[in-house]
Amino acid sequence: MTLSTSRSALEELPNRLVRGIERRARGRRLPASPDPEREQHELLGEAWPCAERDEFDGLWSGILSSLRDLGLELGRGCYGGWDDADPALARSVWCLTHHLRPGLVVETGVARGLTTRLALEAIARNGAGRMWSVDLPPKAPGLADQTAIAVPPELRNRWRLLRGASRNLLPILGQELADHNLTVDLFVHDSLHTGRNVRFELEWAWARLSATGVAIVDDIEQSAAFTAFARAHPDARALVCDAADGRSQFGCLFRRAVQ
Ligand SMILES: C[S@@+](CC[C@H](N)C(=O)[O-])C[C@H]1O[C@@H](n2cnc3c(N)ncnc32)[C@H](O)[C@@H]1O
Repeated sequence: MTLSTSRSALEELPNRLVRGIERRARGRRLPASPDPEREQHELLGEAWPCAERDEFDGLWSGILSSLRDLGLELGRGCYGGWDDADPALARSVWCLTHHLRPGLVVETGVARGLTTRLALEAIARNGAGRMWSVDLPPKAPGLADQTAIAVPPELRNRWRLLRGASRNLLPILGQELADHNLTVDLFVHDSLHTGRNVRFELEWAWARLSATGVAIVDDIEQSAAFTAFARAHPDARALVCDAADGRSQFGCLFRRAVQ
């Protein structure tokens, strides 16, 4: 199902202004965990090494080669200037979806749909759960065909894509969650990385996260929002992870970490 909202230059104006202001007050790289995957599993109370983690490598290379066979260039900046998911981020989404066995995953930022695909693959293997993703309508006509191209038809029955800005759509989804008494078990932020937007999305997610839920946030070095959020929420256990190519960082916030 697709819900669309129109995106005007006026709607984009606050984001442009915020980007300009925040450029002067950027975040910075944070000390990362030396062994983030082990730590993620320990915080979930799961065994390490993890069998699912090994399965990831074959799945990931299969997805990338099927996209390359379609003539797509993949990587940083390749989707209208946005990055495709880094393998370390994608692997974390895959393992977290396996171990949390989420009833509901909410994601912002789909692009070609790499993180979406990994979460939906794990949901299919779990045999339960669904996913709601939010992304803007594509800004260039050529990109329309590429949105979520990594998500095959057989994985779409548990998935709903909503088109519009997270700032506009998350409140609507929040109402729907409240109406049906639902919580979010895994939240994935990979949309607009301004501090203003990350804070907005994290506050939205944290208020709806289940007792054992996790929020994962890409590109945390682009603002101070991740650190500020973790400081302001003593019930959040933060873990900082380096991207596979070392050029960016992502963070995980565990609501109830196993001691
Ligand atoms: C970094 S890409 C997402 C990468 C993706 N998760 C993957 O696995 O490859 C960022 C995406 O966020 C979307 N986006 C940017 N600003 C947004 C906003 N305010 N609300 C929702 N989506 C947004 C862009 O259209 C783009 O598709």
